[in-house]
Amino acid sequence: MTTPERRPLVAGNWKMNGGRADARGWAEAARVVADQTSNEVALFPPYPWLGLVLEAVGGAGAKVVVGGQACHPEPSGAFTGAVSAGMLADLGCKSVLCGHSERRHVFGESDDFVAKSMAAALEAGLVPVLCVGETAEEREAGQTEAVVARQLDAGLAVLRSGDDPLIVAYEPVWAIGTGNPATPKEAAEAHAFIRQRIAERDPERAATVRILYGGSVKPSNIDGFLAVPDVDGALVGGASLDPETFAPIACAKAGTADG
Ligand code: 13P
Repeated sequence: MTTPERRPLVAGNWKMNGGRADARGWAEAARVVADQTSNEVALFPPYPWLGLVLEAVGGAGAKVVVGGQACHPEPSGAFTGAVSAGMLADLGCKSVLCGHSERRHVFGESDDFVAKSMAAALEAGLVPVLCVGETAEEREAGQTEAVVARQLDAGLAVLRSGDDPLIVAYEPVWAIGTGNPATPKEAAEAHAFIRQRIAERDPERAATVRILYGGSVKPSNIDGFLAVPDVDGALVGGASLDPETFAPIACAKAGTADG
């Protein structure tokens, strides 16, 4: 369903990929694409390239939203290797991913840490993208809803009011980087569950929150996802590393799949 609040959002998460020249080229291409689509376009580059990406998309007031891939819960201190939400905001970022699957599973971020990083993001004025999703083992064990609910509830608990911004990304771990995306039906079930869970706390937020699908999104499958009423966009990894694949995904229209 496309309402003004749920304008489709297509975001590229570059993860730890690309050199300086790649970052500039991909960002310049995203700037062009953002002018060709009614979708919102966002980029989540590696920290060292944030400044040049912000500049390449057009600086303050640019159409392309630029955000960090994670942030630490604390505003400053002895946390070698970490970046605070305030630093991202100071640089000109508008958003940040919280609890991406790789942060949870490779770097060991707990639900509590993710919730605190989300609280820090809100405090700094950033739009948090709360990432949730089950592993293959959890899905096989019938725990998908329990896992997603646990991750979601921890994040929702730090929202200070109905006015706090929030985007949710459903990224089943087994679909990330595997070339094995969820089916639109699987995405529909998970997204409906997430929206319902949010509705139990805040029906107004549930009606307006954007829930993105992520996991092996490609030009060939984006229409199927955007045809699902509860899918409000995509969080794209591998296919965001080439403007030839990112552009058609970013320009896909909601509700255009054949069936
Ligand atoms: P892929 O699109 O490479 O599967 O990655 C998805 C993802 O993790 C985006 O955040």
